[in-house]
Amino acid sequence: MQVIILSSAHDVAVYAADRVVDVINTKKNPVLGLATGSTPIALYEELVARHHSRQVSFRQTVSFNLDEYIGIADSHEQSYRTFMNQHLFNAIDIMPTNTHVPLAQSKEVAVLKKSAQDYEASIQQAGGIDLQILGIGLNGHIGFNEPTSSFASRTRIKTLSESTVAANKRFFKAGEYQPELALTMGIGTILDSRAVLLMATGKAKAEAVKAMIEGPISAMCPASALQLHEAATIVLDEEAASLLALKEYYQWCELKRQQLHEGSLI
Ligand code: PGA
Repeated sequence: MQVIILSSAHDVAVYAADRVVDVINTKKNPVLGLATGSTPIALYEELVARHHSRQVSFRQTVSFNLDEYIGIADSHEQSYRTFMNQHLFNAIDIMPTNTHVPLAQSKEVAVLKKSAQDYEASIQQAGGIDLQILGIGLNGHIGFNEPTSSFASRTRIKTLSESTVAANKRFFKAGEYQPELALTMGIGTILDSRAVLLMATGKAKAEAVKAMIEGPISAMCPASALQLHEAATIVLDEEAASLLALKEYYQWCELKRQQLHEGSLI
């Protein structure tokens, strides 16, 4: 894994935006995997700013989001479709028909299973994901792949863990229906992406980050599956990196990588 430790959450967003823009500018038909949550908001703000200053166009870009709550309408203010429209899609020139968020508003199992299969097929038809953006849950989840999710899992119905429901309660009004199920890309789906970029900021994520990078590969920490990916970058602020045992080594590796990039090893 490439572990990059930067001084602030803003720097993490700028780094992630550079990677996204690089994919868009180097691929003919770029396919992005996108994430929701508080962490990528700063990345989306950065991308919108770059679009407004004409540094990037999303005209040719296709996107696939990781997950969506089951049983709430796309137009619900807490749906991930609404989140993406508000934070990114409505503010850039991506074609609405090129943006994909799992369709999960039905409460019928057969409809949801078909929707999950169709989502996998759409990713394949688009040529696979070039760069998958990820956050990490306090419990180590990626997408809504909660602890004990199979590393071979594909897009499917997933029961949210108690801690995830509790962590997301803040977004729902008192007494409002809060989903306990989601349709999420599987860990196998995520591992199929040609590259993954996981962003984590703040002290609260330090334990999960340590388990992901330095812990054993275990279904108890779904993000540890990324140790099996040959092009996984983890970009952290100082707080999220604070519990890493090999912090200085990762910084040393980045220095060496920079020297290699410049053509000199010593
Ligand atoms: P957060 O969520 O960015 O809101 O912390 C991350 C996640 O649960 O994947």
